[in-house]
Amino acid sequence: MPRLIVTTREGETREVEASAGLSVMEAIRDNGVDELLALCGGCCSCATCHVHVDAEWQDKLPPLTEDENDLLDSSSDRRFNSRLSCQIPLSEALDGLCVTIAAED
Ligand code: FES
Repeated sequence: MPRLIVTTREGETREVEASAGLSVMEAIRDNGVDELLALCGGCCSCATCHVHVDAEWQDKLPPLTEDENDLLDSSSDRRFNSRLSCQIPLSEALDGLCVTIAAED
């Protein structure tokens, strides 16, 4: 199972594991990190699953879609490495992925 390294808004870092095929959002939420609200359940319409992805992982992620890009534009904490975690499927290729939960809008 791929491992995911998650840093919370308070700076606490946790390692979680989740099945390949789940989204990064589901992996975070299902491991009890409840500051990731994921209000729309993963259908790319709320932006409450916003994370910052460590730079070294950028080129291993699926490309931004137009919808994801538009939603991220609505965030005051958008950075070069911003992604919606519901739009990143976990795979063995992403084992060790490091993300930080973005500030709440
Ligand atoms: S959970 Fe709503 S956009 Fe990701």
